Amino acid sequence: MYFFKTTEELKRHISQNKSSNQKIGFVPTMGALHQGHLSLIQQSQSVCSHTICSVFVNPTQFNESSDLQKYPRTPAKDIELLTLVGTDILFMPKLSEVYPNGMESSLAIDLKGLDSVMEGKFRPGHFEGVTQVVHRLLELTQPDVLFMGQKDFQQCVIVGRMIKALSLDLELVACPIVRNSSGLALSSRNMRLSVRGREQALILFASLQKAKVTLEKESVKSIVSSVKKQFLESNADLEYFEIVDGHTLEPIADEKDTDFVVACIAAYIEGVRLIDNMILKGGF
Ligand code: PAF
Repeated sequence: MYFFKTTEELKRHISQNKSSNQKIGFVPTMGALHQGHLSLIQQSQSVCSHTICSVFVNPTQFNESSDLQKYPRTPAKDIELLTLVGTDILFMPKLSEVYPNGMESSLAIDLKGLDSVMEGKFRPGHFEGVTQVVHRLLELTQPDVLFMGQKDFQQCVIVGRMIKALSLDLELVACPIVRNSSGLALSSRNMRLSVRGREQALILFASLQKAKVTLEKESVKSIVSSVKKQFLESNADLEYFEIVDGHTLEPIADEKDTDFVVACIAAYIEGVRLIDNMILKGGF
């Protein structure tokens, strides 16, 4: 595995090695890698000739400095895992490599309100930071295919919108959520949960499953209110549970309103903010 820490080394390697018959896949991550990330690498390897992974905890997408500080960092283990799965290139830059001119963003994209709902409502500025860093990393890695996890459903939709708005010449592949045997979606943040917390966190998956099973039998309003009630009776703090149109991210009143229905959830367990989602109808 080639391991680059500077943009100069990365750019030099890419310009010397890129040829027209190669398909480059790119997996951006913030490290603390788990099987969910590795599944993105594996998806890339199944369709691309070369796979680049970046590990960079991007400060501009954190709206709370304490969240940034607490974000798990396991660089040595990340390098080991990426080597093990046969990643071709790892890019693990310092802040000054990604933002040589400071962290102010000059990127202006009309996200059509996709960034003002759900995560955007609770994490102001989060998606500005995400689009800023993904755009910068794409500029550096120049991939043909970008692989992102459906676990961050809103992020996938917004990056898709950015690609369209800026007419970027690449394909976005949203890869399925990887769950543990109990259904908990794998997340770097799970590392901060106790064994009991991981059990309590299953309420997120249970809520999404309930929505999936009852979508055609119950109204959206009644599904949402019964999930909210279950949270009130639990130790978890619900931030939002919404059933939305997967294209616009707007809440729907009836499942027949759209061909793409997604249930999205964010909740705090032991003070750790977790998100999850489930496609109830249709797909990307
Ligand atoms: O999903 C993530 O880990 C991050 O938001 C990303 C896409 C790597 C950008 O920092």
